[in-house]
Amino acid sequence: MNVLILGSGGREHTFAWKLSQSPLLKKLYIAPGNAGTGNLGENINVNADDFPAVKSICLEKDINLVVVGPEDPLVKGIHDFFLADTELKDIPVIGPQKAGAELEGSKDFAKEFLFRHNIPTAAYQTFTSEDLDQGYAFLETLKAPYVLKADGLAAGKGVLILDSIDEAKAELKEMLTEAKFGAASAKVVIEEFLDGIELSVFVLTDGNSYKVLPTAKDYKRIGEGDTGLNTGGMGAISPVPFADDILMRKIEDRIVKPTVEGLKKDKLPYKGFIFIGLIKVDNEPIVIEYNVRMGDPETEAVLPRIKSDLLELFQAVGEGKLDQKTLELDPRFATTVMMVSGGYPEAYEKGKVMSGIDTVKDSIVFHAGTKQVGAEVQTNGGRVMALTSFGDSINEALAKSFANAEKVNFDGKYYRTDIGFDL
Ligand code: AMP
Ligand code: GLY
Repeated sequence: MNVLILGSGGREHTFAWKLSQSPLLKKLYIAPGNAGTGNLGENINVNADDFPAVKSICLEKDINLVVVGPEDPLVKGIHDFFLADTELKDIPVIGPQKAGAELEGSKDFAKEFLFRHNIPTAAYQTFTSEDLDQGYAFLETLKAPYVLKADGLAAGKGVLILDSIDEAKAELKEMLTEAKFGAASAKVVIEEFLDGIELSVFVLTDGNSYKVLPTAKDYKRIGEGDTGLNTGGMGAISPVPFADDILMRKIEDRIVKPTVEGLKKDKLPYKGFIFIGLIKVDNEPIVIEYNVRMGDPETEAVLPRIKSDLLELFQAVGEGKLDQKTLELDPRFATTVMMVSGGYPEAYEKGKVMSGIDTVKDSIVFHAGTKQVGAEVQTNGGRVMALTSFGDSINEALAKSFANAEKVNFDGKYYRTDIGFDL
């Protein structure tokens, strides 16, 4: 099969790495890709949001399956675009259609879905600029801290957690009446604050049956001890040690099954990944959010633990035959440490020459923001490169990732040395 992966981050390099191991793969294309994916297949300089250009690649390169990495093209309806096109309609797309992608594209839609299907989640109400006063009144009924969420996609920045009610009211006003997050905050979900420890569960579904993939925990803040600004993710650990059999049974029975059943009941065709953000409060799992794709950097820790042929699983998703496949996992821990550009997540410089990548031993190198320039690999983003390692314990795996993070160099390199500190 010829496969096209859409996206350019560490997640997409991990997909490329995993799919390259499949005997079913003939040729791999990545649009736009990075320096790492370029070693495994052919990068094509097309943006995933440019659907007509994606179509051209599919026809020119005789693509048999498309894997959509990021949420943007899904929420914009890339899968629907394929289904509506006579030349593309038979190419399986891994990623939901637009209607199902609303689980990530609209927080209000996701909350309605969760309540409609009796899936545990925080109490909430949704407001627009017309009912700002009701928004203030709802805030008065809650206890601090206050959770405000822009309804639409806001590049991971749309959630605010505020300690004082005055701040919460001021932010609500700014989101609704001054478009703080653009159109994404035309609606705001105000939610009860949940106090607990987070984990993520990943599900692959063909819309009927599903496989629960390994759990992971990511580290979103830039600073050690989970301090400072939010980032795309500074590292990940899989599996999550506190996700024992009892908790996983609750998650599957109360959350995963009703989610897949709910999609069916609501007639939302869904072939792809469901990334369920959970919080464990007193041993009970509660849904914080859905994403309609894999996480980044969670993918870098989760996929290496899947022993089964991922392309075979994707093919089964396309054919609606996922129930006929089994999922085999590596029991060891995988840890991912992300190296980022100095200054990130605020202003940072690109184009720094990287060295030492060839000296990495006992870790898998996943490129994120990198670019091949002649013989050089240069930095090309905030999150630059992920190092994933295996171990029988988290610490054993982490020691390898950290040792290798010392060997790879570029001007301004930074990484967190406390990934997994809370486990
Ligand atoms: P989201 O984009 O919905 O995942 O929210 C971003 C982050 O905000 C989550 O990963 C949590 O750390 C935090 N968060 C979101 N909702 C809540 C909530 N109801 N209670 C506590 N923390 C939350
Ligand atoms: N690491 C979080 C995300 O991919 O949304």
